[in-house]
Amino acid sequence: MQIGHVFLGLSLPEPVEGKKPYFDKLSARLQAKVLLLKNLCGLPIHNIINQSTYTMGMDVFTFNKYGSADNLYIKKVEKPTPAADQLLIKVIATSFNGSDKEMLRGSPLYARIGGFIRPKSWVLGSDIAGVVEATGPTVTHFKVGDEVYGEMAGYRGGLAEYVCIKGDLLAKKPADLSFIDAAAMPQAGTIAYRGIITEADVQAGQNVLINGAGGAGGSFAIQLAKHLGATVTGVDNEHKLDFMTSMGADSIIDYKKEDFAQNGQQYDLILDLFGTRAPKTVAASLAADGTYLAVGGPVRRILQLFMQEQRIQKSSGKRVSMLTVPQNHEDVVAMTQFVLDGHIKPAIDRVFEFNEAPQALGRMLDGLALGKIVVKVSDG
Ligand SMILES: NC(=O)c1ccc[n+]([C@@H]2O[C@H](COP(=O)([O-])OP(=O)(O)OC[C@H]3O[C@@H](n4cnc5c(N)ncnc54)[C@H](OP(=O)(O)O)[C@@H]3O)[C@@H](O)[C@H]2O)c1
Repeated sequence: MQIGHVFLGLSLPEPVEGKKPYFDKLSARLQAKVLLLKNLCGLPIHNIINQSTYTMGMDVFTFNKYGSADNLYIKKVEKPTPAADQLLIKVIATSFNGSDKEMLRGSPLYARIGGFIRPKSWVLGSDIAGVVEATGPTVTHFKVGDEVYGEMAGYRGGLAEYVCIKGDLLAKKPADLSFIDAAAMPQAGTIAYRGIITEADVQAGQNVLINGAGGAGGSFAIQLAKHLGATVTGVDNEHKLDFMTSMGADSIIDYKKEDFAQNGQQYDLILDLFGTRAPKTVAASLAADGTYLAVGGPVRRILQLFMQEQRIQKSSGKRVSMLTVPQNHEDVVAMTQFVLDGHIKPAIDRVFEFNEAPQALGRMLDGLALGKIVVKVSDG
Protein backbone atom coordinates (compact mmCIF):
# COMPACT_ATOMS: atom_id res chain seq x y z
CA MET A 1 0.00 0.00 0.00
CA GLN A 2 1.24 3.45 -0.83
CA ILE A 3 1.81 5.55 2.24
CA GLY A 4 0.22 9.00 1.98
CA HIS A 5 0.81 10.75 5.31
CA VAL A 6 2.25 9.92 8.68
CA PHE A 7 0.50 11.37 11.72
CA LEU A 8 1.63 10.48 15.25
CA GLY A 9 3.23 7.31 13.94
CA LEU A 10 0.10 6.23 12.03
CA SER A 11 0.30 5.79 8.28
CA LEU A 12 -2.66 7.23 6.42
CA PRO A 13 -3.55 6.13 2.89
CA GLU A 14 -3.52 8.44 -0.10
CA PRO A 15 -6.91 9.96 -1.09
CA VAL A 16 -9.17 7.38 -2.78
CA GLU A 17 -10.68 8.20 -6.15
CA GLY A 18 -14.33 9.21 -5.78
CA LYS A 19 -13.86 10.23 -2.12
CA LYS A 20 -11.27 12.90 -2.80
CA PRO A 21 -12.99 15.92 -1.19
CA TYR A 22 -13.32 14.14 2.15
CA PHE A 23 -9.75 12.89 2.13
CA ASP A 24 -8.46 16.20 0.90
CA LYS A 25 -10.18 17.95 3.80
CA LEU A 26 -9.01 15.36 6.29
CA SER A 27 -5.53 15.56 4.92
CA ALA A 28 -5.48 19.38 5.18
CA ARG A 29 -6.62 19.23 8.80
CA LEU A 30 -4.06 16.58 9.65
CA GLN A 31 -1.35 18.50 7.89
CA ALA A 32 -2.14 21.59 9.98
CA LYS A 33 -2.02 19.51 13.15
CA VAL A 34 1.24 17.82 12.22
CA LEU A 35 2.71 21.26 11.50
CA LEU A 36 1.49 22.52 14.85
CA LEU A 37 2.98 19.55 16.72
CA LYS A 38 6.18 20.02 14.78
CA ASN A 39 6.22 23.69 15.84
CA LEU A 40 5.50 22.98 19.46
CA CYS A 41 8.05 20.19 19.60
CA GLY A 42 10.83 22.40 18.32
CA LEU A 43 11.46 20.32 15.21
CA PRO A 44 12.79 20.01 12.50
CA ILE A 45 15.18 17.38 13.71
CA HIS A 46 17.91 18.30 11.18
CA ASN A 47 18.45 21.52 13.06
CA ILE A 48 18.98 19.70 16.35
CA ILE A 49 21.54 17.51 14.64
CA ASN A 50 23.25 20.56 13.14
CA GLN A 51 23.57 22.08 16.57
CA SER A 52 25.27 19.01 17.95
CA THR A 53 27.89 19.04 15.21
CA TYR A 54 29.50 22.41 16.00
CA THR A 55 33.29 22.32 15.82
CA MET A 56 35.78 24.28 18.14
CA GLY A 57 36.07 28.05 18.18
CA MET A 58 33.14 29.90 19.75
CA ASP A 59 31.04 30.20 22.89
CA VAL A 60 27.50 28.89 23.25
CA PHE A 61 25.27 28.62 26.28
CA THR A 62 23.88 25.14 26.74
CA PHE A 63 22.27 22.95 29.42
CA ASN A 64 21.95 19.24 30.03
CA LYS A 65 19.37 19.14 32.81
CA TYR A 66 15.77 20.43 32.79
CA GLY A 67 14.62 22.75 35.53
CA SER A 68 16.12 26.13 36.23
CA ALA A 69 18.29 28.75 34.55
CA ASP A 70 21.11 27.71 36.94
CA ASN A 71 21.63 24.70 34.67
CA LEU A 72 22.94 26.91 31.86
CA TYR A 73 26.68 26.98 31.25
CA ILE A 74 29.06 28.28 28.60
CA LYS A 75 30.67 25.69 26.35
CA LYS A 76 33.44 26.24 23.79
CA VAL A 77 32.54 24.60 20.49
CA GLU A 78 33.74 24.86 16.92
CA LYS A 79 32.49 27.65 14.73
CA PRO A 80 29.90 26.06 12.42
CA THR A 81 30.38 25.77 8.67
CA PRO A 82 27.39 26.51 6.42
CA ALA A 83 25.93 23.70 4.32
CA ALA A 84 25.31 24.44 0.60
CA ASP A 85 21.94 26.12 1.29
CA GLN A 86 22.89 27.78 4.58
CA LEU A 87 24.25 31.12 5.74
CA LEU A 88 26.81 31.62 8.49
CA ILE A 89 25.54 34.46 10.67
CA LYS A 90 27.48 36.41 13.26
CA VAL A 91 24.84 36.84 15.94
CA ILE A 92 24.51 40.40 17.22
CA ALA A 93 21.43 39.79 19.37
CA THR A 94 19.13 36.92 20.25
CA SER A 95 15.82 36.96 22.07
CA PHE A 96 13.82 34.51 24.16
CA ASN A 97 10.21 33.44 23.90
CA GLY A 98 7.88 31.15 25.80
CA SER A 99 9.38 28.26 23.80
CA ASP A 100 12.82 28.87 25.41
CA LYS A 101 11.25 28.86 28.86
CA GLU A 102 9.44 25.61 28.09
CA MET A 103 12.60 23.91 26.75
CA LEU A 104 14.56 24.95 29.81
CA ARG A 105 11.83 23.68 32.13
CA GLY A 106 11.10 20.56 30.07
CA SER A 107 7.42 21.38 30.38
CA PRO A 108 4.83 21.07 28.81
CA LEU A 109 5.75 17.56 27.71
CA TYR A 110 6.11 18.53 24.04
CA ALA A 111 9.18 20.56 25.03
CA ARG A 112 10.99 17.24 25.72
CA ILE A 113 10.64 15.76 22.26
CA GLY A 114 14.13 14.85 21.14
CA GLY A 115 15.34 14.67 24.77
CA PHE A 116 12.75 13.01 26.97
CA ILE A 117 14.89 12.39 30.07
CA ARG A 118 17.42 15.18 29.55
CA PRO A 119 18.04 17.89 26.97
CA LYS A 120 20.62 17.03 24.31
CA SER A 121 22.98 19.95 24.95
CA TRP A 122 20.49 22.27 23.30
CA VAL A 123 21.33 25.91 22.74
CA LEU A 124 18.41 28.22 23.54
CA GLY A 125 17.65 31.50 21.73
CA SER A 126 14.69 31.25 19.38
CA ASP A 127 15.20 34.48 17.41
CA ILE A 128 18.32 36.16 16.03
CA ALA A 129 19.52 39.33 14.38
CA GLY A 130 22.99 39.42 12.90
CA VAL A 131 25.29 39.83 9.92
CA VAL A 132 25.94 37.30 7.14
CA GLU A 133 29.57 36.20 7.35
CA ALA A 134 29.55 33.45 4.71
CA THR A 135 27.08 31.74 2.40
CA GLY A 136 26.80 28.21 1.01
CA PRO A 137 27.18 27.86 -2.78
CA THR A 138 23.44 27.56 -3.53
CA VAL A 139 22.39 30.64 -1.53
CA THR A 140 21.18 33.36 -3.89
CA HIS A 141 19.08 35.83 -1.88
CA PHE A 142 21.72 36.91 0.63
CA LYS A 143 25.34 38.01 0.45
CA VAL A 144 28.18 38.52 2.89
CA GLY A 145 27.61 41.67 4.95
CA ASP A 146 23.78 41.60 4.78
CA GLU A 147 22.07 42.44 8.06
CA VAL A 148 19.38 39.83 8.70
CA TYR A 149 16.89 38.69 11.31
CA GLY A 150 14.52 35.77 11.80
CA GLU A 151 13.51 32.73 13.79
CA MET A 152 15.90 29.85 14.33
CA ALA A 153 14.58 26.64 12.75
CA GLY A 154 13.38 24.43 15.57
CA TYR A 155 13.28 27.46 17.93
CA ARG A 156 16.79 27.10 19.27
CA GLY A 157 20.44 27.82 18.61
CA GLY A 158 20.62 31.64 18.89
CA LEU A 159 22.53 31.86 22.17
CA ALA A 160 25.79 31.42 20.31
CA GLU A 161 28.36 33.66 18.67
CA TYR A 162 27.62 32.16 15.24
CA VAL A 163 24.79 30.14 13.75
CA CYS A 164 24.23 28.38 10.44
CA ILE A 165 20.71 28.63 9.11
CA LYS A 166 18.84 28.36 5.82
CA GLY A 167 17.88 31.68 4.26
CA ASP A 168 14.16 30.91 3.95
CA LEU A 169 13.51 31.85 7.58
CA LEU A 170 15.44 35.10 7.35
CA ALA A 171 14.62 38.59 6.14
CA LYS A 172 16.94 41.52 5.49
CA LYS A 173 16.88 43.86 8.48
CA PRO A 174 15.59 47.31 7.59
CA ALA A 175 18.21 49.99 8.31
CA ASP A 176 15.73 51.82 10.59
CA LEU A 177 15.28 48.77 12.83
CA SER A 178 17.99 48.27 15.46
CA PHE A 179 19.53 44.81 15.93
CA ILE A 180 17.94 44.69 19.39
CA ASP A 181 14.44 45.45 18.07
CA ALA A 182 14.97 43.11 15.13
CA ALA A 183 15.91 40.24 17.45
CA ALA A 184 12.73 40.85 19.45
CA MET A 185 10.39 40.60 16.47
CA PRO A 186 10.36 37.17 14.80
CA GLN A 187 8.55 34.51 16.84
CA ALA A 188 6.44 36.78 19.03
CA GLY A 189 5.58 39.07 16.13
CA THR A 190 4.57 36.10 13.99
CA ILE A 191 2.31 34.68 16.71
CA ALA A 192 0.58 38.05 17.06
CA TYR A 193 0.25 38.52 13.30
CA ARG A 194 -1.22 35.06 12.77
CA GLY A 195 -3.47 35.23 15.84
CA ILE A 196 -4.84 38.74 15.34
CA ILE A 197 -4.79 39.20 11.57
CA THR A 198 -4.38 36.03 9.50
CA GLU A 199 -6.63 33.71 11.50
CA ALA A 200 -9.04 36.07 13.26
CA ASP A 201 -9.14 39.15 11.02
CA VAL A 202 -9.83 41.41 14.00
CA GLN A 203 -12.01 44.41 13.18
CA ALA A 204 -12.61 47.76 14.87
CA GLY A 205 -15.14 47.53 17.67
CA GLN A 206 -14.57 43.84 18.42
CA ASN A 207 -13.94 42.55 21.92
CA VAL A 208 -10.62 40.74 22.15
CA LEU A 209 -9.22 38.93 25.17
CA ILE A 210 -5.56 37.96 25.22
CA ASN A 211 -4.64 35.41 27.87
CA GLY A 212 -0.93 35.60 28.72
CA ALA A 213 -0.84 39.12 27.27
CA GLY A 214 2.14 40.33 29.33
CA GLY A 215 4.62 37.92 27.71
CA ALA A 216 6.44 37.89 24.37
CA GLY A 217 3.63 37.17 21.88
CA GLY A 218 1.01 38.92 24.03
CA SER A 219 2.86 42.25 24.09
CA PHE A 220 2.71 42.39 20.28
CA ALA A 221 -0.86 41.04 20.15
CA ILE A 222 -2.27 43.73 22.48
CA GLN A 223 -0.71 46.50 20.41
CA LEU A 224 -1.84 45.03 17.09
CA ALA A 225 -5.44 44.46 18.23
CA LYS A 226 -5.58 48.01 19.63
CA HIS A 227 -4.15 49.43 16.43
CA LEU A 228 -6.96 47.67 14.52
CA GLY A 229 -9.54 49.32 16.76
CA ALA A 230 -10.51 46.43 19.06
CA THR A 231 -11.32 46.73 22.75
CA VAL A 232 -8.69 44.61 24.46
CA THR A 233 -8.66 42.76 27.76
CA GLY A 234 -5.24 41.53 28.88
CA VAL A 235 -4.79 38.66 31.32
CA ASP A 236 -1.53 37.83 33.07
CA ASN A 237 0.13 37.69 36.48
CA GLU A 238 0.15 40.56 39.02
CA HIS A 239 3.60 41.83 37.93
CA LYS A 240 2.41 42.44 34.37
CA LEU A 241 -0.86 44.33 34.94
CA ASP A 242 0.49 47.88 34.56
CA PHE A 243 2.61 46.74 31.63
CA MET A 244 -0.45 45.41 29.78
CA THR A 245 -2.16 48.76 30.32
CA SER A 246 0.92 50.51 28.92
CA MET A 247 0.66 48.30 25.80
CA GLY A 248 -2.89 49.59 25.33
CA ALA A 249 -5.12 47.07 27.13
CA ASP A 250 -8.49 48.64 28.05
CA SER A 251 -8.96 46.26 30.95
CA ILE A 252 -6.72 43.83 32.76
CA ILE A 253 -7.18 40.65 34.77
CA ASP A 254 -4.77 38.97 37.18
CA TYR A 255 -5.05 35.30 36.24
CA LYS A 256 -4.28 34.21 39.77
CA LYS A 257 -7.22 36.21 41.15
CA GLU A 258 -9.92 36.06 38.51
CA ASP A 259 -10.99 33.47 35.97
CA PHE A 260 -11.85 35.24 32.70
CA ALA A 261 -13.99 32.27 31.70
CA GLN A 262 -16.22 32.69 34.76
CA ASN A 263 -16.87 36.44 34.77
CA GLY A 264 -19.83 36.44 32.39
CA GLN A 265 -18.06 38.42 29.64
CA GLN A 266 -18.05 37.27 26.03
CA TYR A 267 -15.42 37.99 23.41
CA ASP A 268 -15.20 37.95 19.62
CA LEU A 269 -11.67 36.60 19.89
CA ILE A 270 -9.81 34.91 22.70
CA LEU A 271 -6.13 34.52 21.87
CA ASP A 272 -4.72 32.17 24.49
CA LEU A 273 -0.96 32.12 24.84
CA PHE A 274 -1.22 29.42 27.50
CA GLY A 275 -4.46 27.46 27.15
CA THR A 276 -5.33 25.62 30.32
CA ARG A 277 -9.12 25.55 30.03
CA ALA A 278 -11.38 22.89 28.53
CA PRO A 279 -12.66 23.68 25.00
CA LYS A 280 -16.30 23.82 26.17
CA THR A 281 -15.41 26.31 28.91
CA VAL A 282 -13.73 28.74 26.54
CA ALA A 283 -16.52 28.32 23.97
CA ALA A 284 -18.96 29.63 26.59
CA SER A 285 -16.90 32.83 26.83
CA LEU A 286 -17.20 33.50 23.09
CA ALA A 287 -19.78 35.73 21.43
CA ALA A 288 -21.82 34.16 18.60
CA ASP A 289 -19.41 33.40 15.71
CA GLY A 290 -16.52 34.04 18.11
CA THR A 291 -13.07 32.48 17.78
CA TYR A 292 -10.82 30.92 20.41
CA LEU A 293 -7.22 30.25 19.40
CA ALA A 294 -4.82 28.48 21.75
CA VAL A 295 -1.16 29.08 20.96
CA GLY A 296 0.41 26.81 23.58
CA GLY A 297 -0.57 24.91 26.71
CA PRO A 298 -0.53 21.48 28.36
CA VAL A 299 -0.58 18.51 25.96
CA ARG A 300 -3.87 17.24 27.42
CA ARG A 301 -5.60 20.50 26.43
CA ILE A 302 -4.04 20.53 22.98
CA LEU A 303 -5.32 17.01 22.31
CA GLN A 304 -8.79 17.97 23.58
CA LEU A 305 -8.87 20.87 21.16
CA PHE A 306 -7.87 18.58 18.29
CA MET A 307 -10.68 16.16 19.20
CA GLN A 308 -13.46 18.64 19.95
CA GLU A 309 -13.07 21.55 17.53
CA GLN A 310 -15.30 20.05 14.83
CA ARG A 311 -18.07 19.13 17.28
CA ILE A 312 -18.09 22.56 18.92
CA GLN A 313 -18.09 24.31 15.56
CA LYS A 314 -21.07 22.23 14.38
CA SER A 315 -23.13 22.65 17.54
CA SER A 316 -22.43 26.33 18.32
CA GLY A 317 -20.94 27.94 15.22
CA LYS A 318 -17.98 29.00 17.34
CA ARG A 319 -14.41 28.24 16.37
CA VAL A 320 -12.34 26.71 19.14
CA SER A 321 -8.97 25.48 17.93
CA MET A 322 -5.19 25.57 18.13
CA LEU A 323 -3.36 28.31 16.25
CA THR A 324 -0.73 26.93 13.92
CA VAL A 325 2.15 29.35 13.50
CA PRO A 326 4.51 28.14 10.77
CA GLN A 327 8.04 29.53 10.95
CA ASN A 328 8.39 31.94 8.05
CA HIS A 329 9.86 35.32 7.19
CA GLU A 330 6.81 36.81 5.41
CA ASP A 331 4.84 37.32 8.64
CA VAL A 332 7.91 38.80 10.31
CA VAL A 333 8.28 41.30 7.50
CA ALA A 334 4.54 42.16 7.59
CA MET A 335 4.68 42.69 11.34
CA THR A 336 7.84 44.78 11.04
CA GLN A 337 5.99 47.14 8.71
CA PHE A 338 3.65 48.06 11.61
CA VAL A 339 6.77 48.93 13.62
CA LEU A 340 8.34 50.97 10.81
CA ASP A 341 5.03 52.82 10.35
CA GLY A 342 5.04 53.67 14.06
CA HIS A 343 1.87 51.72 14.97
CA ILE A 344 3.50 49.26 17.34
CA LYS A 345 6.82 48.95 19.13
CA PRO A 346 8.71 45.87 20.32
CA ALA A 347 8.30 45.94 24.11
CA ILE A 348 11.74 45.11 25.43
CA ASP A 349 11.86 44.35 29.12
CA ARG A 350 15.66 44.34 29.33
CA VAL A 351 18.74 43.80 27.21
CA PHE A 352 21.20 41.42 28.88
CA GLU A 353 24.86 40.80 28.04
CA PHE A 354 25.81 37.35 26.69
CA ASN A 355 27.25 36.15 30.00
CA GLU A 356 24.04 37.24 31.76
CA ALA A 357 21.89 34.75 29.82
CA PRO A 358 21.08 32.69 32.95
CA GLN A 359 19.76 35.81 34.72
CA ALA A 360 17.76 36.71 31.60
CA LEU A 361 16.07 33.31 31.47
CA GLY A 362 15.69 33.29 35.26
CA ARG A 363 13.70 36.53 34.98
CA MET A 364 11.35 34.85 32.51
CA LEU A 365 11.00 31.74 34.65
CA ASP A 366 10.20 33.91 37.69
CA GLY A 367 7.27 35.46 35.80
CA LEU A 368 8.84 38.95 35.80
CA ALA A 369 9.65 39.57 32.13
CA LEU A 370 7.47 42.27 30.58
CA GLY A 371 7.25 41.54 26.87
CA LYS A 372 10.58 40.54 25.35
CA ILE A 373 13.96 39.66 26.80
CA VAL A 374 16.89 40.29 24.46
CA VAL A 375 20.52 39.19 24.86
CA LYS A 376 23.26 41.19 23.16
CA VAL A 377 25.71 38.61 21.88
CA SER A 378 28.25 40.86 20.20
CA ASP A 379 28.66 44.46 19.06
CA GLY A 380 26.75 45.38 15.93
N1 LIG B 1 1.12 27.20 17.97
C1 LIG B 1 2.31 27.34 17.43
O1 LIG B 1 2.53 27.00 16.25
C2 LIG B 1 3.41 27.94 18.26
C3 LIG B 1 4.57 28.45 17.67
C4 LIG B 1 5.52 29.04 18.48
C5 LIG B 1 5.32 29.11 19.86
N2 LIG B 1 4.20 28.59 20.41
C6 LIG B 1 3.89 28.66 21.86
O2 LIG B 1 3.38 29.94 22.13
C7 LIG B 1 3.27 30.04 23.56
C8 LIG B 1 3.34 31.48 24.02
O3 LIG B 1 4.56 32.06 23.66
P1 LIG B 1 5.10 33.41 24.30
O4 LIG B 1 6.46 33.55 23.71
O5 LIG B 1 4.15 34.52 24.21
O6 LIG B 1 5.22 32.98 25.85
P2 LIG B 1 5.55 33.87 27.13
O7 LIG B 1 6.42 35.01 26.80
O8 LIG B 1 6.02 32.91 28.17
O9 LIG B 1 4.12 34.45 27.51
C9 LIG B 1 3.15 33.66 28.08
C10 LIG B 1 2.49 34.46 29.18
O10 LIG B 1 1.43 33.67 29.72
C11 LIG B 1 1.44 33.85 31.12
N3 LIG B 1 0.76 32.73 31.77
C12 LIG B 1 1.26 31.58 32.27
N4 LIG B 1 0.27 30.84 32.80
C13 LIG B 1 -0.87 31.54 32.62
C14 LIG B 1 -2.21 31.31 32.95
N5 LIG B 1 -2.59 30.19 33.59
N6 LIG B 1 -3.13 32.25 32.63
C15 LIG B 1 -2.76 33.38 31.99
N7 LIG B 1 -1.49 33.67 31.64
C16 LIG B 1 -0.56 32.76 31.96
C17 LIG B 1 2.91 33.89 31.44
O11 LIG B 1 3.08 34.45 32.72
P3 LIG B 1 4.03 33.79 33.81
O12 LIG B 1 5.30 34.54 33.62
O13 LIG B 1 3.34 34.05 35.08
O14 LIG B 1 4.18 32.32 33.52
C18 LIG B 1 3.45 34.78 30.32
O15 LIG B 1 3.36 36.14 30.64
C19 LIG B 1 4.34 29.09 24.08
O16 LIG B 1 3.68 28.04 24.75
C20 LIG B 1 5.04 28.55 22.83
O17 LIG B 1 5.46 27.21 22.93
C21 LIG B 1 3.24 28.02 19.62
